[in-house]
Amino acid sequence: MKIIIDGPSANAWLLELKNVSVDEVEVSEQIRLASDIAKKYIGNHLPNIKDELKYGSGYILIKGVPIDLETSGVDPRLETKIECPSISELSLLGITAASGLRPFSYAQEKMGSLVHEVVPKPDCGNSVSSDGFVEFKLHADGAYLNRAIRPETLSLMCLNNDAQTKTNLILIDDVVHGMSRNDVDILSSLNYMHVSPETFGFGVKSKKIKSSIIDRVDGSWEVKVATHNTEPCGFEAESALTRFIHMANSKVNAISWEPGDFVIFSNLRCLHGRGSISGRRWLKRCYGSRNMVCGSVVDLNDSVV
Ligand SMILES: [Fe+2]
Repeated sequence: MKIIIDGPSANAWLLELKNVSVDEVEVSEQIRLASDIAKKYIGNHLPNIKDELKYGSGYILIKGVPIDLETSGVDPRLETKIECPSISELSLLGITAASGLRPFSYAQEKMGSLVHEVVPKPDCGNSVSSDGFVEFKLHADGAYLNRAIRPETLSLMCLNNDAQTKTNLILIDDVVHGMSRNDVDILSSLNYMHVSPETFGFGVKSKKIKSSIIDRVDGSWEVKVATHNTEPCGFEAESALTRFIHMANSKVNAISWEPGDFVIFSNLRCLHGRGSISGRRWLKRCYGSRNMVCGSVVDLNDSVV
């Protein structure tokens, strides 16, 4: 599903957001205001967005969303907690909240920031994560986490993609439909070790959880896997995972990014990844969930993962 915001609407949207981007207002209130503004411009699409996330292709692209070109000189490698969100951050958080998903973060990831800077960092080049340059294979974020505290959606906002690196997305239904019944049963069994990712390093120990890769939840297929570090238990599990990865890679949708592109996708129904990055690329990201309080910071040391 693709939505295009025309130039005059984007300008009017941007001017409204400038009134919200002020220091004195609480972040949760800024998100509420940004959500109300987003509803003015995409309100007629919201029922379709919600349907698409839950039952359709699992992702939506909105082009021409307001971003703040005037801040493109800011070094995005400096992770700080939001005091005064930028225009692109208000667009990101506002559309996410307008879509019924409450933005939240984890205390142990990126210093608890609600908005993550997705940009390669010179000292993390070989890290298989949002901080690295190297290929990041198909995965779901927080695959090792309990479903209740896993991100339900990811929202991404493009500020720059000189590197022309695409994001790959694949809906789990499209993978499962190409697999044999036997493989589906194996992938549904508790024969896989899920490992906490590299970016969850701040005050939390590496964790391993034994679980399945695909699950049938309320009549729909869901997926949790990081294809680069999920460990199969036994030969059958390994063979099924190899065929699963091959099938997923053969069916991915490659999304080309331009500044002002916003994408929201279901992290429960889709896997995502990208190739290696050569050049400048700057996205902003936030998690969304209907289980969370808007703007909350989840402490994984207090949670049942
Ligand atoms: Fe990811």
